[in-house]
Amino acid sequence: MIKKIKEIQKEASVFQAVKLQDIEDFRIKYLGKNGLIPALFGELKNISKTEKKRVGGSINLLKRIVLDIIQKNKKELSEEEKKSEEMDFTLPGYSWELGARHPISLVKNKIVKIFERIGFILSQGPEIEDDWHNFTALNFPELHPAREMQDTFFIEKNPDILLRTHTSSVQIRFMKNTPPPIRIISYGRVYRNEVISSHSHCVFHQIEGLFVDKGVSFADLKQTIQYLKHSIFGNSKIRERPSYFPFTTPSAEIDIQLSSNGPWLEVMGCGLVNPKVLKNVGINPEVYSGFAFGIGIERIALLLYQINDIRLYFDNDIRFLTQFRSE
Ligand code: PHE
Repeated sequence: MIKKIKEIQKEASVFQAVKLQDIEDFRIKYLGKNGLIPALFGELKNISKTEKKRVGGSINLLKRIVLDIIQKNKKELSEEEKKSEEMDFTLPGYSWELGARHPISLVKNKIVKIFERIGFILSQGPEIEDDWHNFTALNFPELHPAREMQDTFFIEKNPDILLRTHTSSVQIRFMKNTPPPIRIISYGRVYRNEVISSHSHCVFHQIEGLFVDKGVSFADLKQTIQYLKHSIFGNSKIRERPSYFPFTTPSAEIDIQLSSNGPWLEVMGCGLVNPKVLKNVGINPEVYSGFAFGIGIERIALLLYQINDIRLYFDNDIRFLTQFRSE
């Protein structure tokens, strides 16, 4: 019998109530009129007098253990109930605010992807440049008026260290270190000493492309620009206006017209890489030729999202930025 009592005790000791009813069921099972413990007491009359005392003591001990288990479970349940009363499930929950990409990043990612599809690889350069990479190697002779058009912020003078005025400096950095064929795309912030207004800023963003190989012609440049335009704007018109950059010849500026009779907007500068520039970086212009272009990212975003003030890009006004969440 002792063995049986021990087994019942073992089973009872692992009891864990989840709700009040469990405790009541447990009580009935062990202590109810037809429960296990009264049955054990009933069995006492069948055993010898000498054994009775010992077995009776064990059953009493079991009963006490069962009562303790009931007490313990009741206490635990009521504490948990109290805890859940403290929580107000009707309060609105905390939600995570998802951010949105900045329109400049959206356009940049779009254009980089378009060029990656035709084999251009990404190459980046520093925003703090020396005079040689930003101007001299790009065939801006010292004191040449073309430097006037790209006045910037100087960090040091003699030798000049400055905030780059365009991403064309990355062309020099790449060509200096890598022999042709070259097909790179680069993006980033550029700086100019400009009065801030709705259409100009002292900081803006460019994407630069460079292609150098044997037999690269203006036709290749035109076709590449057509491909870019078509990938972003679909059926719209572009026109090339002759222009001047010291590092390309011939040079052009590209304007885009989104709807017939709509305004023409300038979006990029481009041209065939000036042979002098190739010579400056040790590439033989008799063998190789190339084209380059520089796109104003703000300009493209302005057209895509109809933004009429360049300053909106830099204000970080959440009402402006959240509008791009769906992109
Ligand atoms: N770097 C020129 C600018 O910032 C743009 C450009 C790039 C023009 C490449 C021609 C070729 O105005």
